[in-house]
Amino acid sequence: MKKIAIAGTGYVGLVTGVCLADIGHDVICVDRDQHKVSTLNNGYPPIYEPGLNELMLKNMEEGRLRFTTSPSVGFEDAEVIMITIGTPQNEHGTLDLQYIEQISKEIGRSLKRNNVIIVTKSTVPVGTNAKVKSWIQSEIQTSLKFQVVANPEFISQGSAIYDTFHGDRIIIGSDSKEALNLLEELYQPFGIPIFKTDMNSAELIKVASNSFLALKISYVNALASICEQMGANIEDVSFGMGMDSRIGSAFLKAGLGFGGSCLPKDTHALVQMGNDAGEAFNLIKEVIEVNKRQELKLVEKALNRFHSLHGKKVALLGLSFKPNTDDIREAVSIKLARHLVHEGATVIAYDPVSIPNAKKVLGELISYAETVEQALMNADLTFIVTEWDEIKNVPLNLFHELMKDPVIFDGRNCFQLESIKKFP
Ligand code: UGA
Repeated sequence: MKKIAIAGTGYVGLVTGVCLADIGHDVICVDRDQHKVSTLNNGYPPIYEPGLNELMLKNMEEGRLRFTTSPSVGFEDAEVIMITIGTPQNEHGTLDLQYIEQISKEIGRSLKRNNVIIVTKSTVPVGTNAKVKSWIQSEIQTSLKFQVVANPEFISQGSAIYDTFHGDRIIIGSDSKEALNLLEELYQPFGIPIFKTDMNSAELIKVASNSFLALKISYVNALASICEQMGANIEDVSFGMGMDSRIGSAFLKAGLGFGGSCLPKDTHALVQMGNDAGEAFNLIKEVIEVNKRQELKLVEKALNRFHSLHGKKVALLGLSFKPNTDDIREAVSIKLARHLVHEGATVIAYDPVSIPNAKKVLGELISYAETVEQALMNADLTFIVTEWDEIKNVPLNLFHELMKDPVIFDGRNCFQLESIKKFP
């Protein structure tokens, strides 16, 4: 079993650290945010992720998982250091690597052992791991040797623990065979197929995969508009398409489009990489455009029906960018709420876990309900934004009982048209 340090306790870092501890490794997570580290040391994860808290507590109690703010305490003794720092998108659409550079240099300054393996799990543009290598090297004063491995992450928010134990593949890329073999050994207990490649290919697999998922979503959303005009049912069309195993049913769910901290950012990053390579990736540009148009379709529909939303009370069901997470980054709900308020509507939102995060962004622009019932009470319109189980399972008669004259804009196709038609 290996001594592993994780640099950064965002959702990828924390989930990775907890799961690696759970398969027996000795894990220390390093984060410069003192408040976050104290919260973690008290046994509370700063994010909502199903199963995370229990697994984290178990591994802390069993002595395999620790948290520190000190890079020297974290990195000095580690055999493997994993970089899981965020790479936000900057104003040019590229991934901002300043934090990766800072942490790489910090690692370089802290290294005391020979042959440490530095693993980059953060999503990065092609060529970054080569830079990581030189940033680390620039801070090493001695003749210490180290290796760098690109190891992109494929877990999804809301199912991150499950994905870590049941993923489809683990991708590792490096020019060092020894480093690849050691990582293969480290990941072996997960029993997931491991694909070894070079660094650049590993980096590209990540952004290319996320962009391909985005492409499937925009494809089905663009198709949904055609279905509406042609009197076809997009749910049936995508189901029928997905029955073909060459196409696959995943990511063919039409709706309000993709949000979150990954797909929007990675599609832009791929476009930028195309530009850098002198190969304009117009296909992905269109994926982004379709997604932008998708976000406001429901407001357009509402305006078509009511002409004005002035004075209307709108219940917004769901705030997180997808179910089972409290993450509201690039969530359609935020844009929708702002738009509805701009159109003169009063908005009341309900979400099982994301209200505290939404309040930080929307503040008092809208009001917040503690229950679905409270949100629906006397509402003129309901917008279904996130398909939480709780929201999908709202009995249709509740809309009738609580709303004034119920009009539901179902942005995630939670309800069958046929069952809605049964109501007068
Ligand atoms: C995504 C990828 O799915 C993960 O493989 C990857 O590891 C992760 O990014 C990352 O780069 O860290 P995530 O952003 O957590 O995961 O969420 P997804 O499940 O991909 O959903 C993204 C968005 O697409 C959500 O807003 C969701 O509602 C939307 N979506 C998804 C659809 O509109 N239709 C679908 O059929 C599927």
